[in-house]
Amino acid sequence: MTALLRLHGVTAFYGAIQALKGVDLEVNQGEIVTLIGSNGAGKSTLMMTICGNPRARSGEIHYDGSDITQLPTFEIMRRGLAQSPEGRRIFPRMSVHENLLMGAYGRAPGEAAEDMERIFALFPRLKERLAQRGGTLSGGEQQMLAIGRALMSRPRLLLLDEPSLGLAPLVVRQIFGAIRELNRATGLTVLLVEQNAFQALRLAHRGYVLVNGAITMAGTGPALLARPEIRAAYLEGAH
Ligand SMILES: Nc1ncnc2c1ncn2[C@@H]1O[C@H](COP(=O)(O)OP(=O)(O)O)[C@@H](O)[C@H]1O
Ligand SMILES: [Mg+2]
Repeated sequence: MTALLRLHGVTAFYGAIQALKGVDLEVNQGEIVTLIGSNGAGKSTLMMTICGNPRARSGEIHYDGSDITQLPTFEIMRRGLAQSPEGRRIFPRMSVHENLLMGAYGRAPGEAAEDMERIFALFPRLKERLAQRGGTLSGGEQQMLAIGRALMSRPRLLLLDEPSLGLAPLVVRQIFGAIRELNRATGLTVLLVEQNAFQALRLAHRGYVLVNGAITMAGTGPALLARPEIRAAYLEGAH
């Protein structure tokens, strides 16, 4: 397998605070990889550092065979990465339709219409709510919209930051089911950041554990789920 994304020794800082302490991580073409870790571990920072903000202070980030470590964010995104950020960040006053179009910025209108149909097949609820303002959607619907908007750029690598945050278990299953279906049907590569370790490790082909800015464990989803340290730290009482 070829690595679509490869991080080597990546560090990142907020002023004097070091949030990433030399992260090595790979995401192969066609994989779902999850990064689990508790609140404050540095998961969102890692996601944002891949996109160039904050910038990695040292280490290297390679995407699709080229070094993107120093590229401006817009240039990184132009190469086929799309991000659904933590907290969804949809436009609350815009309709579902307008929010989706924001994700298609710069693309031909015909292509955007085609992509929207694919997103409606994945999340039929969005089609029913097309004219509704983003801010009035339920949490689960807003998450579907955030993922849909990210998909509008036709990414090769989808970065998802805590899609399950604050959602009821049934809605989490729907969202994760849609991610699995996307990956299975289109081969889309996914890097999924989650505190919800049980669901994320069940979905992912492989996973990494981030503790205090450093990777402490890596392995297949089932292997990590079976580790007693993981069970004790992340899964006790989770299901
Ligand atoms: N904008 C910021 N300025 C200063 N410190 C930050 C900022 N964002 C995050 N941090 C700190 O960096 C660390 C990692 O945060 P974050 O990446 O958000 O963790 P996670 O997503 O795993 O919860 C935390 O200690 C957090 O307080
Ligand atoms: Mg976070």
